[in-house]
Amino acid sequence: MNPFDYSKSQALFSRAHDVIPNGIAGHFNPSVQKPHGTYPHYCQQSEGARFTDIDGNEYIDYMCAYGPMILGYKNPVVDEAYHSQLGQADTVTLASPVMVELAEYMVDMIPIADWATFAKNGADATNMAVLIARAATERTKTIAIDGGYHGASPWMQSLERGGIDSSDHSNVIRIPWNDVAALQQVLAEQGNEIAAFISSPYHHPAYQDNALPAEGYWSEVHALLNQHGVVSICDDVRAGFRIDIGGSNEYFGYKPDLICFCKAMANGYPISALLGIDSLKEAAAAIFQTGSYWFSAAPMAAALACLKELKHIEAPKLILQIGKKVTDGLVEIAGKHGLELKVTGMLSMPYLRTEHESGIEFHQSLCGECTRRGVFMASHHNLFISAAHSQADVQRTFDIFEDAVCSTKERNR
Ligand SMILES: Cc1ncc(COP(=O)(O)O)c(C=O)c1O
Repeated sequence: MNPFDYSKSQALFSRAHDVIPNGIAGHFNPSVQKPHGTYPHYCQQSEGARFTDIDGNEYIDYMCAYGPMILGYKNPVVDEAYHSQLGQADTVTLASPVMVELAEYMVDMIPIADWATFAKNGADATNMAVLIARAATERTKTIAIDGGYHGASPWMQSLERGGIDSSDHSNVIRIPWNDVAALQQVLAEQGNEIAAFISSPYHHPAYQDNALPAEGYWSEVHALLNQHGVVSICDDVRAGFRIDIGGSNEYFGYKPDLICFCKAMANGYPISALLGIDSLKEAAAAIFQTGSYWFSAAPMAAALACLKELKHIEAPKLILQIGKKVTDGLVEIAGKHGLELKVTGMLSMPYLRTEHESGIEFHQSLCGECTRRGVFMASHHNLFISAAHSQADVQRTFDIFEDAVCSTKERNR
């Protein structure tokens, strides 16, 4: 297989540097897409589980826009709902009735929820959740997990990032994942200052193997949080609807007080949601959070259609099955060529890592070789599987992966 040519992408990226700091913001920064030159920068078209870059190269997409795509790009059901609402009203002086319909639907679908409120990004939902916990408890501090990501707000960003000061972290206490003793200690020492415990339902950090909750972890955590009157926030922004249609906490058998959704809830249209229990409704009404586009109705219509479709096709079960097929096949191919491919986390968003003496560079090189042959995967982050990854996509993935494994081994001799 001939690796792709990226000349148009690279030329446009050079132009971008003149007018956009770094060429592009955030996690699309090419410094995370190593080795240099193995990833394209700009997309021209997308459909189903595939997209085409501006050089005309086609990819089977295992990043799914970093999560939002779950039913396939250009899903007709979701797109029809979006365009139909757009034809009526989108961002207007008043909200549209679809907002109430969406809230009713989600409250019905998410077992822990008695109310819902909407925003745009995942960080809007996590920020609101923390504010509500603070308003409800009249306390200020939040416990979070080491390496847990809840958005780009200053309280969540690492200190090495530009503009972040230790005072931004003064109300955040980090503890290791799966460490009940650490939680117990923080609560024993500072329990009456802790408003919230925020965590994803399982640990899916970047650059690290992902980790499921240990047996009994969530029930022990909840017993401690209840004892100390701490609000439990489930950040399901990334995993939401790829594990359980009622929220990933249902799969892991626990009941948070607040749950945050974003990425997959509208198959790519911009919307996030925060849902919570009845006893936090008053605190939710007491905080002030809003944004210029938070009431835009077309993404709400898209979310409603997307969630109905996800439920109808039993998407979490289907995506977990596809994820198993993909990861089993990749592990087998790697093994055939003498490589150990480790798969961690949930199979609908698997984190892959190749065990190799040269460390992370080998896996980066392998993912780069896959990408420049048409299987788009990042090396530092969990992948995302969608309901649109067909048998033909999976078979082609295996063929490309095998070729990429051989080429990477050759280069690393
Ligand atoms: C678990 C989790 N929480 C919150 C966020 C923040 O979402 P957003 O980037 O939409 O603000 C992300 C984004 O990747 C995430 O993975």
